[in-house]
Amino acid sequence: MRKRRLGKTGLEVSELSLGTWGLSGDGYGPVTEAEQDRVLERALAMGVRAFETADCYAEGRMEERIGARVPENLGAFVVTKIGTRKDGTIPRKDFAVDYLKDALQRSRDRLKRDTIDCVLLHNPSRQAFDNPLLPEFMRELKERGMVRCWGVSAGTGEVGRAAMQAGAEVLELAYNVFHAQEMLELEAELGQREVGVLARSTLAHGLLCGLWPPDKQFAANDHRAERWSTDELRRRISQLNPLRTLLSAELPSLRGIALRFVLSNTLVSSAVLGPRNCLQLDQLVREAGKEPPYLEDQKRVDLRERLVTVGVYV
Ligand SMILES: NC(=O)c1ccc[n+]([C@@H]2O[C@H](COP(=O)([O-])OP(=O)(O)OC[C@H]3O[C@@H](n4cnc5c(N)ncnc54)[C@H](OP(=O)(O)O)[C@@H]3O)[C@@H](O)[C@H]2O)c1
Repeated sequence: MRKRRLGKTGLEVSELSLGTWGLSGDGYGPVTEAEQDRVLERALAMGVRAFETADCYAEGRMEERIGARVPENLGAFVVTKIGTRKDGTIPRKDFAVDYLKDALQRSRDRLKRDTIDCVLLHNPSRQAFDNPLLPEFMRELKERGMVRCWGVSAGTGEVGRAAMQAGAEVLELAYNVFHAQEMLELEAELGQREVGVLARSTLAHGLLCGLWPPDKQFAANDHRAERWSTDELRRRISQLNPLRTLLSAELPSLRGIALRFVLSNTLVSSAVLGPRNCLQLDQLVREAGKEPPYLEDQKRVDLRERLVTVGVYV
């Protein structure tokens, strides 16, 4: 699998990363530990060399599975996120340096690594960057050899911008055919500052696979049950038609087109996949394509125009 540079960190990541939120059983419903291990091993066998997780996924158990199944000597790049506490009745954010220090140590122990390749602050608010001790702490981790690079998983363009101004070397952003807002807001600065970009939610939580009936329902323990109203989901599903016009022998699936859209943006260092089983992983890796052009410029332009006509972009 091809690798791309991670901004100006001097590090490289495989173009496809294995994201592990869904795999952890959080977010979309349970996954067995045996399946988690099979997916980790299958990802390695398919050439995936970047693994993305968070200390809070399954209360740290996902980091433990990565520590057990993706040993350091394989040269895989591991990204984890800190700053979400689950020790109370409801999860809360904590970016106080004392808390982060302990959280990082726990992640190092679970991942079985003295040095973690990349540590991201997990969805901080813009205000978190008002504390100058926060970026200072992240820089210090790097100087002390506890991390190779640091960054922020950002939920808004405003947070992404504050993170870059604070010195973040990597940003993780939601980026897909239907949702490019933060990427568009930040692209000039991402390029100028040479910040590495991890693109997540590349399938819009599964919507872009185009496999759902208009009246799709989700289980109560699936975050998607709360994400869209019935009418909103029906509208979203109908907006997939422009993607279908790109289907061909070479581009046989919507999920492949969605991934190729992400990979064809050269600002993206790696597309963070979210499979919950080996079959999904196999399909994603196979259908993402192997090399540029993932989606030719003209196809991107045509697609954008069609998406404007159905109301995805204004
Ligand atoms: N704040 C953050 O830092 C943050 C936020 C979100 C995500 N992430 C990371 O990014 C990763 C991916 O993001 P995501 O979960 O938001 O969304 P995603 O990759 O857009 O969607 C994941 C969902 O897509 C469906 N899917 C995957 N492969 C498929 C296939 N081959 N065929 C059909 N459906 C398929 C699955 O749905 P079913 O469950 O219905 O099978 C899966 O749960 C996460 O695992 C996580 O590691 C980070």
